[in-house]
This record gives sequence, C-alpha cells and structure tokens, in this order.
Amino acid sequence: MRDLAGVAALVTGGASGLGLATAQALAAAGARVAALDLRPGEAAPGILPLACNVAEEASVAAALDAAEAAHGVARIVVNCAGIPGSMRLVGREGPVDMTRFAQVINVNLLGTVSVMTKAAARMMALDPLAPDDERGVIVNTASITAFEGQIGQGAYVASKGAIAAMTIQAAREFAAKGIRVLAIAPGLFHTPMAAEVPPEVVEAITSDAIFPRRFGAPEDFADLCLSMTRNPMLNGEVVRLDAGVRLRAR
Ligand SMILES: NC(=O)c1ccc[n+]([C@@H]2O[C@H](COP(=O)([O-])OP(=O)(O)OC[C@H]3O[C@@H](n4cnc5c(N)ncnc54)[C@H](O)[C@@H]3O)[C@@H](O)[C@H]2O)c1
Repeated sequence: MRDLAGVAALVTGGASGLGLATAQALAAAGARVAALDLRPGEAAPGILPLACNVAEEASVAAALDAAEAAHGVARIVVNCAGIPGSMRLVGREGPVDMTRFAQVINVNLLGTVSVMTKAAARMMALDPLAPDDERGVIVNTASITAFEGQIGQGAYVASKGAIAAMTIQAAREFAAKGIRVLAIAPGLFHTPMAAEVPPEVVEAITSDAIFPRRFGAPEDFADLCLSMTRNPMLNGEVVRLDAGVRLRAR
C-alpha cells in the first residue's frame, strides 16, 4: 500500500508512546486514524481518539464500529496497547500469582488477538487493491524479551513470545485474503512505559547496544511501521528494532 492518503487505520495504545507516534506518522502520511486506548488522548488532525479496552471483546467491537462509521473499514491495523508486568516465576512469596500473570496475557496477547481478528474479518470484505490484490496490513508489537527473556519478566515474555510466534501463522492464514501480518520487536524505547524500567537496567541495555547506544525514539518505531505498511514484500516477519542489543539475564 504505497499511498496512504485517505486510507483508514486503527492504532491501539494510540494515546501514548509508540502507538501515539505511529498514529501521528500515519495521519501525517494522509491516513485517517482511529487511536484506540484505555485512556484516549486528544483529537488531532487526522486522528480520532476512541475509548477501548482491548481486553474486553464488547469494547473492541464497539470501538471498531465507531472507527468504521467515521472512516470506513481499516486497511491498516497497528497493535501497540500493552502493559508491563514484572514478577518472578517463583518469588519470596512462592509461585507466581496466576491472576497477575493472566492479566498481562489478557491485555498484551488476547487484546492483540482480539483486535487483529475482529479487524481482519472486516478487512476481508473490502475490495482488493492493485497491483497485488492487497486488502491490508496488520502490525503487532512484540518485544526483544520474546527472544532473550529477562529474570522477572515471565508473563510479559510469554505474551510477547506468543505475538511473535503468531506472526507467520496469521500471515499464512490471511494470505488468501491479501492481508499481510508483521510484528516489530522493539528494544528499549523512550516512552512512559519505559519510565518504570530501573535506571541500572536502562544503562545495561543502552550500553550493550551495538549502535547507536541510546533509547529508541517513538518516531523510529513509527518509521518502521510505515515502511512495513508500504512495502508489499514484507510479510510474516518479526523485525527487531533494537540497535543490535542482546539482553542480559537481568
Ligand atoms: N517502550 C519500550 O521500551 C518497549 C519495548 C518493547 C515493547 N514495547 C511494547 O510497545 C507497546 C507500546 O508501549 P509503549 O512503550 O508505547 O507504552 P505506553 O505505556 O506509553 O503506551 C501503551 C498504551 O497502551 C494503553 N493500554 C494499556 N492497556 C490497554 C488496554 N487494556 N486497552 C487499550 N489500551 C491500553 C495505555 O493506556 C497506553 O496509552 C507495548 O505493547 C509494549 O509492550 C515497548
């Protein structure tokens, strides 16, 4: 999809951090963006904020209805809504609290699957676009912790590992309908979520990067997202966006 002008897009987690930067970049490229978030942000040119809890099916369906009424069915879907969740598998108080573990899975994994599948079902009814008969593209957000899980990150790792694993699977399943599926696995990015990362962990991650040795900027993420949207040959891939860092155990 080379030309994004007038194309409807959905971005979850669109009120903050990586999702906000992506919503802004899509809108600047001419897309009509619905920014879904638990705490919706301010309206801006090309961006319609919508309240949505991705972990609740009825809330997702209602937000997709509202986005469709305003912009038509989305051909671009970017899932950025997510929560952190530090907890040891076995800590001082014993084995992990399964309710806390499940909460991270519910938002990060099931929320992504819910939006991806509900949006894809609508997208499948759209006319295909020349020259490849593409109907649309879905970009999910994994994390490099999916591959180098750090101590205390089990629930988060499980949620992001599943998102990574589903990329090729969903791409294969949606291929007959001309829908591509991709994922970005970010390293450490400068967002409100990263503000909760302890300074010594930030120092370790940025100093272990190959180059450049800094936080990623949300705009770096948004750039990749737009490239993925525009380039029809990218499909079924999880792309690390991390300045080459490999995470330590903690
Ligand atoms: N920042 C990083 O270093 C980093 C690294 C790897 C992966 N990620 C992933 O990138 C994504 C975006 O993270 P970010 O750093 O921009 O965080 P952020 O906290 O700035 O933004 C996340 C947004 O998701 C929203 N959200 C949370 N739960 C929701 C729910 N149930 N329904 C709808 N919206 C919900 C929040 O309100 C928030 O606006 C997340 O999936 C995160 O796991 C971030």
